[in-house]
Amino acid sequence: MCSYCGCQAIEILGRFTAEHEDIVNALGDLRRTVASMDDAAVEVSARTLAGLLDPHTASEERSLFTELRRDGEFTDEVDQLCGEHDGLGDQLTAIASGRHELMPEFEVALRRHIDREENGLFPAAAIALDGEAWDRVHAVG
Ligand SMILES: [Fe+2]
Ligand SMILES: [Fe+2]
Repeated sequence: MCSYCGCQAIEILGRFTAEHEDIVNALGDLRRTVASMDDAAVEVSARTLAGLLDPHTASEERSLFTELRRDGEFTDEVDQLCGEHDGLGDQLTAIASGRHELMPEFEVALRRHIDREENGLFPAAAIALDGEAWDRVHAVG
């Protein structure tokens, strides 16, 4: 978690960071369920995680990422993070349907994705966006 630049004082970045915490907790539950080798329980845990992850990534994409795309400096990073959203969603769907061997790879990818946002994109956005831009982000977040 970024604790240097004050980016969490921006409402939506604070909300996204809090949602990351819930997502990481649900990720831990899924890892423990996969280890228990109970297929039905894995499906429930995976659905619970998807219920947190899907609305979170959709909100990032329609609010903060859409605004950052207006600045060419962020286009590549935002494109990569959107690609990761798709990949993470696909991996989670596969785990839910029984591909439990994907769990370690999925966990690393999801933790790296969150780290990239909290310690890269969010602090950079806090510096780059002005008040009007944040109004637009908050209006659709
Ligand atoms: Fe994301
Ligand atoms: Fe995120």
